[in-house]
Amino acid sequence: MSAGRIKQVLSALGFAAMAFAMVPAAASADDAKPAATEAAYVPKGIPAPAGSVFKTLFSGYQFRSADTRAMQDDDFSNPGMLSVEAATSEWSHVDGEAGKSCASCHADPAKTMHGVGTHYPRWNKVLERPVTLEQQINLCRTNNMKAKPWAFNSENLTNMTTFVRYQSRGLPVAVKVDGPMSVWFDKGKSLYYQRIGQLDMACSNCHEKYYGKHIRADLLSQGQTNDFPTYRLKSQHLVPVEKRFQGCMAKVRAKPYKIFSDNMIALEVYTAWRGNGLPVETPGVRN
Ligand code: HEC
Ligand code: HEC
Repeated sequence: MSAGRIKQVLSALGFAAMAFAMVPAAASADDAKPAATEAAYVPKGIPAPAGSVFKTLFSGYQFRSADTRAMQDDDFSNPGMLSVEAATSEWSHVDGEAGKSCASCHADPAKTMHGVGTHYPRWNKVLERPVTLEQQINLCRTNNMKAKPWAFNSENLTNMTTFVRYQSRGLPVAVKVDGPMSVWFDKGKSLYYQRIGQLDMACSNCHEKYYGKHIRADLLSQGQTNDFPTYRLKSQHLVPVEKRFQGCMAKVRAKPYKIFSDNMIALEVYTAWRGNGLPVETPGVRN
């Protein structure tokens, strides 16, 4: 869809203010009022791996304001670190009929979980489908601990997901999409480019075509997932990636896919692959 067509659609629906401002990525910041020095900030990317849809990969971090970036960078001011702390004690909390904690089997998370957060969603041989990190944690709870699964978006599950992924902070995202994953990859890809909702827009319309440009006060990123679960200043808590996808779908007035539905997981697999090579930032901070 052309920029003109998007503007037309948006204004027809009364979203005049949502029209895209065609400014270069480096021209300004997003959420907070850009400080005078911010105009000079140039988003730093990394060369995309072969086969990527992008030439350069940019973490969403690069498109946030200096204040937001600083908050993520400093563990003492990053609000997501409180959840990492909370999960640190949950890690050795015995729960369920098997009388076990995560620590009973996985001992020191800095060693046993190092790198784990780079490769989710991951193929599960037993279930013969990809599972997300949230689902893997719940599989351990139900199968290995004989404990109740945690609800999606509950504090416990999001904290633990954040904690596990945090053990891979700085390591490159490396989601595998070959072998049996390729069917899910293809499905996710077609969903990514499929226009949905009253605004008739695809993920790619915003995050591939227009990243680096403004939509309302927001500066569009590549829609990468290397920061999830990510702390959203708007909602004042950590947000799991599928919740974020739902938010974007609602924004274009589409009915969001259900959490852990095949469509959602396929989309998560494909979107994660688009960020292969970016460093895991969990817990990220975004507006
Ligand atoms: C009784 C032992 C046991 C307990 C308790 C247990 N797990 Fe596991 N966990 C496993 C085994 C075995 C695997 C690998 C095979 C599988 O998927 O079951 C695994 C795999 C994992 C993985 C995937 C690792 C990878 O390389 O992809 C994660 C993440 C994980 N566990 C997290 C947890 C968390 C968090 C808890 C506590 C809520 C927990 N586990 C409790 C035995 C356990
Ligand atoms: C109308 C434009 C629009 C569409 C279409 C859209 N998004 Fe977004 N999305 C946004 C905006 C605005 C943000 C917040 C700023 C940013 O990071 O781009 C965002 C943020 C995100 C983020 C968070 C990035 C980060 O760094 O934390 C992800 C992931 C994402 N979108 C995925 C998707 C997916 C998947 C789809 C398709 C189902 C989609 N988006 C469709 C506008 C859109």
